[in-house]
Amino acid sequence: MRVAESKRDARAALLAARRRGLSTGLVPTMGALHEGHLSLMRRAVSDCEFVAATIFVNPTQFAPGEDFDAYPRTRESDLEACRGVGVHLVFCPSVEEMYAADDRTRVIVSGLTAGLCGAHRPGHFDGVTTVVCKLFHILPTDRAYFGEKDYQQVVVIRKMASDLDFPIEIVLCPTVREADGLAMSSRNVYLDGPQRQQAASIYAALRWARDEIAAGAGDAAALSDGVRRRLAAAGPCHVDYIEVVDPETLTTVTDIMDHVRICVAVRIGNVRLIDNIAAAPP
Ligand code: PAJ
Repeated sequence: MRVAESKRDARAALLAARRRGLSTGLVPTMGALHEGHLSLMRRAVSDCEFVAATIFVNPTQFAPGEDFDAYPRTRESDLEACRGVGVHLVFCPSVEEMYAADDRTRVIVSGLTAGLCGAHRPGHFDGVTTVVCKLFHILPTDRAYFGEKDYQQVVVIRKMASDLDFPIEIVLCPTVREADGLAMSSRNVYLDGPQRQQAASIYAALRWARDEIAAGAGDAAALSDGVRRRLAAAGPCHVDYIEVVDPETLTTVTDIMDHVRICVAVRIGNVRLIDNIAAAPP
């Protein structure tokens, strides 16, 4: 496995693979790798002959006051994990390598970024689409792999890739969960024992809402209330949002007549957790 810290070396390794006629895949991450990330890499390794992963805690997607400095950084064990799943190239640049000191350019997807996490994390998605656009240029692969756990993120990236004519297939991979249903996240390590137990209520509440919809419940506001009550019953938390949205446009749905996505963001203590589930009427 090759480890590249400069754009130049990373790109050269990727282009060499392409010249050899290999199919190529990209898995962008911010490191602190867990089974969720590794599932994306395994999928990429099974689909593509050459897989590049990236590890970069991207400062432009953290709003002021968020956890950029505290974000877990576990480079050596991350590289070991990438090696273990058969990744061929890891690009792990410094902030200075990735962004010019006088950097002025942002890639902005409007509309899709207005609601859900976009409403609570100003500028977050501009940072995400900017860094992913840069990675797509530095490492031009056939496919790029993203997790369903960050549902709004993948919808936004898919739109960016299509609007900006990247010839890259965006592959959506299912959410990997702990045994009690909690979606794996690099931020789960911040939860103390009781908070960790409480966090299982998020997926339990989402499953309840999905089952209600499958049984014919169509009033999104009533379902959101039910989810909110279930979260509150599990312990103290702050709900950023509970929303039933159209799976493509991410617009709010009030009467559920078709496939929807139920999305939640909850803060337990200082830890912000997001999750979502697909649901459809009978
Ligand atoms: P990060 O949070 O490290 O996640 C990297 C990728 O792993 C994302 O596509 C995310 O959706 C996926 N992922 C995270 N947890 C998952 C889980 N439990 N199951 C399945 N997939 C999971 O998302 C980012 O980094 C950044 O915003 C990035 C796209 C790298 C841009 O900086």
